[in-house]
Amino acid sequence: MSYKEKVFDKVDVHELLRKYGSPLYVYDEDILRERCREMKNLLSYPHFKVNYSAKANTNVELLRIIHEEGLDVDAMSPGEMYLEMKAGFTSDQIMFIGNNVPQEELKYAVDRGIYISVDSLSQLETLGEINRGGNVCLRINPGIGAGHHEKVITGGKKAKFGIAIEDLPLAHEIAGRYQMTITGINQHIGSLFLETDEYLAAAAKLLDLATTLPTVQTVDIGGGMGIPYRHGVESRLDLAGLGSELDQLVETWVEAHWPITLRIEPGRYIVAECSALLGKVTAVKENYGRVFLGCDVGFNTLVRPAMYDSYHEISVVPANNRAYAEYELPAYLVGPICESGDILSHDRPLPFCAVGDGLIIHDAGAYGYTMASGYNSRPLPPEVLITSDGKVRVIRKGQALEDLWEDPEA
Ligand code: LLP
Repeated sequence: MSYKEKVFDKVDVHELLRKYGSPLYVYDEDILRERCREMKNLLSYPHFKVNYSAKANTNVELLRIIHEEGLDVDAMSPGEMYLEMKAGFTSDQIMFIGNNVPQEELKYAVDRGIYISVDSLSQLETLGEINRGGNVCLRINPGIGAGHHEKVITGGKKAKFGIAIEDLPLAHEIAGRYQMTITGINQHIGSLFLETDEYLAAAAKLLDLATTLPTVQTVDIGGGMGIPYRHGVESRLDLAGLGSELDQLVETWVEAHWPITLRIEPGRYIVAECSALLGKVTAVKENYGRVFLGCDVGFNTLVRPAMYDSYHEISVVPANNRAYAEYELPAYLVGPICESGDILSHDRPLPFCAVGDGLIIHDAGAYGYTMASGYNSRPLPPEVLITSDGKVRVIRKGQALEDLWEDPEA
């Protein structure tokens, strides 16, 4: 929590809000490129590849930058594949990781030669019917899960994802029936780790499993790399440590077995920190001893705090006509949505705020815009990019009221 004037210490917040409106997603190209490079260089193993997990953010302009940085992508839907191809990714750079998808969606990928991971025996059968003789990747549930909230733990015995290890013989039988070759295995145990033990244990387990699957050429150990949302409190992920442990794991495995491509699927790590969400204080009140700061950023714009109790650092940008106050007040920062759960921060010390002040909600680039909704019939906000040469460019227009309804008969 702090007072600030500029977003990313680069551009004046009130100027941006005046020009583009509020709320506003702002991205920084330099930070995005840096995060891509950190992930790309995580391992020195020569057959290491990064699939950016695009569900975190699918803005096509950002995808273009990620493509330029040499990352591949994963996709969860035809919509994501469509946007990725628009951004320049070719079909061999995309992996479709379906979860309970209809056959038409598998066909969308098959028709374009996009590699598919299936996460149940049932989906393997559905794919077999339209991809006889093709290659397939199996999403494994290793029985281990991890994550920042129950809702984002995607491995383990209670999770809906993946094929249980004990069902692999059945997967072989189904693949055999359709002459499909199991050329890959993947897993994703959950989202947001800052300590690497569980991720490494799960990676080792997946590699162990690969020894029993001689046709496997790709082992994808998933994403989940976290960022320190609590500035100055949480430490950054130890990338050097993670990289060298993974290098050792994969190199030992390859020495004893055969060459494979090792993939990871980070989403959040690539895009979270390159964006800040700007908003404005719209009301201030004290009710029964509780201070509420009303603002124009609701869970329609950023759902993470309401959905997972997620923490985002918040800075206040005083309006031009008032002086900074030296003290902080514990307050609830709440949005304009007509629900009691529309809370951005709970009882957190915030610098003194007044109506008209600007807000910077930090680290909003992952699962921010992509999870935004039109609830309460509020138009989606615009997105702008601060480019490496210091210019500000609109990379997605905001919606206008007229965009809220199109006459289906017209
Ligand atoms: N691969 C698969 C198969 C996934 O399901 C996910 C995320 C990822 C990769 C990327 O995970 P990441 O590196 O971003 O942690 N909306 C939640 C996060 C949900 C993640 C779902 N799956 C949030 O805002 O925290």
